Amino acid sequence: MTTADAILQVQDLSVVYHSSRGPHTAVGDLNLTLRSGEFVSILGPSGCGKSTLLSVVAGLLPASRGRVMVSGEPVRRPRPDVGIVFQKPTLLPWRTVAGNVMVPIEALRRSPRDYAERCRDLLGLVGLAAFAEHYPDELSGGMQQRVSIARALIHDPALMLMDEPFGALDAMTRERMWLELQDIWLSSRKTVLFITHSIPEAVFLSDRVLVMASTPGRIVQEIVIDLPRPRAVQTMAEPRYAALCGDIRTMFLSRMEQGR
Ligand SMILES: Nc1ncnc2c1ncn2[C@@H]1O[C@H](COP(=O)(O)OP(=O)(O)OP(=O)(O)O)[C@@H](O)[C@H]1O
Ligand SMILES: [Mg+2]
Repeated sequence: MTTADAILQVQDLSVVYHSSRGPHTAVGDLNLTLRSGEFVSILGPSGCGKSTLLSVVAGLLPASRGRVMVSGEPVRRPRPDVGIVFQKPTLLPWRTVAGNVMVPIEALRRSPRDYAERCRDLLGLVGLAAFAEHYPDELSGGMQQRVSIARALIHDPALMLMDEPFGALDAMTRERMWLELQDIWLSSRKTVLFITHSIPEAVFLSDRVLVMASTPGRIVQEIVIDLPRPRAVQTMAEPRYAALCGDIRTMFLSRMEQGR
């Protein structure tokens, strides 16, 4: 991959937290490059530094060493061409669904009128066209998470960062969300960096899966997911899908046994 193709470049990134117990290197010498339009997942055990990495890419946390570039520019603060979906939907309870989707537009001081149609289109895309005037507490957890996906897309960011967005959902809703996210990704041509604990989820959604190990957080393996797209529920019954999930599972188990 040439530098020109890269929408995200993380070079020799280290992040050290300082607490009363002393310094803790959460991410150490991590390198990562995403090509424009790719869907890449990061899979790793709890505490290995996934959210820390995402926070630095989002411009919410400074790097201790190394650098992070989005579209060829160093990241120093949150950027308008990056959208974020957190593990919890974090919706404002006093605002309607449409009102929540429009929050980034107001934060960026853009004209809400210019984005009203896009807001309607996005709510349609995430299957919530009929819920624009509802309030978050009238929605299920899956519906709330779809609102937060629409909110992350409203200002048309080139890069979407998703930190375990489906972690709190039941298994059935979660699989439906995979299909919806794939549709959104295929139709909007975003680049996605997706964090998950779930091997089946990472394999279903991704072009590449990057495996992280802890202490310090770093990428130890890359698996190219060569399943054809669009993927469907039937994909999960295919031998190639099972083989990819199995290979990654075996690799995790052997790393655990070796204490790495
Ligand atoms: N603000 C902080 N101060 C000190 N240490 C922190 C802070 N935030 C995270 N850490 C530590 O850094 C390491 C990485 O944390 P991080 O939240 O990035 O992990 P994670 O891979 O996202 O875990 P999970 O899968 O449980 O969400 C952990 O050991 C954690 O205890
Ligand atoms: Mg995390």
